Amino acid sequence: MASLSTLTKPISGTSFFLPKLSDLEFSRSKIRPLTRSNVFKNSKLSSEVYFELPNTNVAIWWGQKDNVMFHFFLAQSSAILAAKLNSEEMQQEATVFRKVIERMRTRRESHKTKQLYLAIYLYELDQHLDRFLRSATMAKIQIPFDSESIRRILIRTVSVSQCRKGSLRYWLSAGPGDFQLSPSSCHRAALYAIVIQDQSPPDHSGIRVVTSSIPIKPPQFAVMKSVNYLPNTLSKMEAEENDAYAAIWLDGDGFVAEGPNMNVAFVTKEKELLMPCFDKILSGCTAKRVLVLAAKLVKEGKLRGIRVDNVSVDDGKRADEMMLIGSGVLVRSVVQWDEEIICNGREGPVTQALLNLLLEDMKSGPPTVRVPIPY
Ligand SMILES: Cc1ncc(COP(=O)(O)O)c(C=O)c1O
Repeated sequence: MASLSTLTKPISGTSFFLPKLSDLEFSRSKIRPLTRSNVFKNSKLSSEVYFELPNTNVAIWWGQKDNVMFHFFLAQSSAILAAKLNSEEMQQEATVFRKVIERMRTRRESHKTKQLYLAIYLYELDQHLDRFLRSATMAKIQIPFDSESIRRILIRTVSVSQCRKGSLRYWLSAGPGDFQLSPSSCHRAALYAIVIQDQSPPDHSGIRVVTSSIPIKPPQFAVMKSVNYLPNTLSKMEAEENDAYAAIWLDGDGFVAEGPNMNVAFVTKEKELLMPCFDKILSGCTAKRVLVLAAKLVKEGKLRGIRVDNVSVDDGKRADEMMLIGSGVLVRSVVQWDEEIICNGREGPVTQALLNLLLEDMKSGPPTVRVPIPY
């Protein structure tokens, strides 16, 4: 049952000009978008779209430079292709394909003066993927593909989903077996990926937390991302039973640890950003990115420094600000921890500034944190 999961959030959007399949009025069963498009490369000059016709990979390329120039190829051997071209099925596909081209041409004509480019990005995919693979190794799961292939599968899953705002979740399991404890009869690990559309508008208002009475996982398990989340679930339920958003764990030495699916940070009275050490908790991709982004606030004089250290409960409850950080919650102000009111019950200014930096990073951060999704 050793399975792993990770959540990468969010898929953020900007703009684009490729025709949507729904606009082309073809049913998805007939034609569906394939792996990649080149809209991001040379996007002013040309674009490349791949569609998949049943049994055939077809790439359609057109360049603005040469106005409407279509060039397509069938990614199969010419012998197979010849056989297919003769088949009735292929004839039908070719007709559909011609209609697609025609509609694209019309659509492009009508968009001459209003070209929008859409590039959707997966935020921190590589950071999440690294932790995912590291965790799989710790769980002794044989990784079924190399990391580049997993990366490609994940990107393609998002692309095919057509989702433009949501999250990507993925799991690795030891694979189908015989329901025994030992995975020895699980012959091949299985990778699962799902794209979940965001349903509700973002909420950045301050929240309450309580101290968890559910014991934290021992460090060996807390530092790896796995589906052994019963303590996390019980901790979240405990919070909800107490009208709180999350329950905060303390580690074996009584220091502040983390929440059930997020990290915790503070702004001290001395205006330092203080985050608990990562040696007994999950090393959050978002928290690590926030540590980098926070340097800007130090430069601007809004913070005096940044420190990763043990945090006592007293120090935490006396802090000027407290926040939760994670790929689901992003950066969210805590305004009450147990009976302690934090920051006069208002969202902290540094927390707000960090949230803004993170949102900005999702929209326009460097390629190391934003992987384009070709639709
Ligand atoms: C226990 C735990 N801590 C922290 C985090 C935050 O990690 P990330 O920022 O990578 O989402 C998560 C995320 O799911 C988590 O499960």
